Amino acid sequence: MIIKTKIFLTAALLLIGCASLPAFAEGDAAAGEMLAYTCLGCHGIDGYRNAYPSYRVPKLGGQKATYLVIAIKGYRDGTRAHPTMSAQALSLTDQQVEDVAAYLASLSADTVEAGGSIAPSLEEAATCVACHGQNGISLSPSWPTLAGQHEDYLEHALNQYRDGARKDPVMGPMAAALTDDDVKLLARYYSRLSGLETTAAD
Ligand code: HEC
Ligand code: HEC
Repeated sequence: MIIKTKIFLTAALLLIGCASLPAFAEGDAAAGEMLAYTCLGCHGIDGYRNAYPSYRVPKLGGQKATYLVIAIKGYRDGTRAHPTMSAQALSLTDQQVEDVAAYLASLSADTVEAGGSIAPSLEEAATCVACHGQNGISLSPSWPTLAGQHEDYLEHALNQYRDGARKDPVMGPMAAALTDDDVKLLARYYSRLSGLETTAAD
């Protein structure tokens, strides 16, 4: 399985290299702060849960800006399915999406640096580090940081890629190669690294 994913990985990296050159969001973080007030009503409350299925609302503080833009637009165009988030996403213009992403990405940026020296202590994470980083801090603004994200949300996200509820050409095949045990192990591993934060509105 590991060899198979490595071959896939090489192909995926080549693909991403070509597809995502304009990787930087040009958002205005100051304008985004106003917009983020609504968002932090859910994302800024420690332990706030999605009702059904029950899992904690993802941390966004310090998440990568371009990934946030891609994710928000995903709720808008249907590659991600979640009624409340779709409604939130549909209420924003493209510029507002960029702005709010720039603001959220700027939070707790001091803890969120790519690279780091923590070697993967988990064999199952060996293929993940190429994109999500040795320390769970992703290496590109287009890829999400996993370090510190809620364990149950990571598990939920991986299962959504596995069952196709969340569609992504890179993570779909990556997640399909994982067993239930791998998913649980990886979710626990990344949730325990330090990185993302739940940041409350001021
Ligand atoms: C009513 C609560 C609520 C509000 C308000 C809300 N969200 Fe969310 N958000 C959620 C939930 C629940 C999820 C997880 C959805 C899923 O399972 O795909 C989510 C997911 C996300 C994600 C995906 C994160 C990831 O790592 O996959 C982003 C980005 C996001 N929200 C941004 C926003 C922004 C920006 C706003 C404000 C404009 C906002 N949210 C407002 C509940 C909320
Ligand atoms: C080739 C690069 C690449 C590799 C390798 C990779 N990922 Fe990802 N990962 C991504 C991208 C890109 C996304 C965002 C996809 C999207 O927009 O939904 C992502 C999203 C995720 C998410 C969702 C995060 C969130 O906030 O919703 C999780 C969890 C995840 N990856 C875990 C893993 C794990 C575990 C591995 C190793 C088994 C792995 N990834 C390997 C590129 C990669």
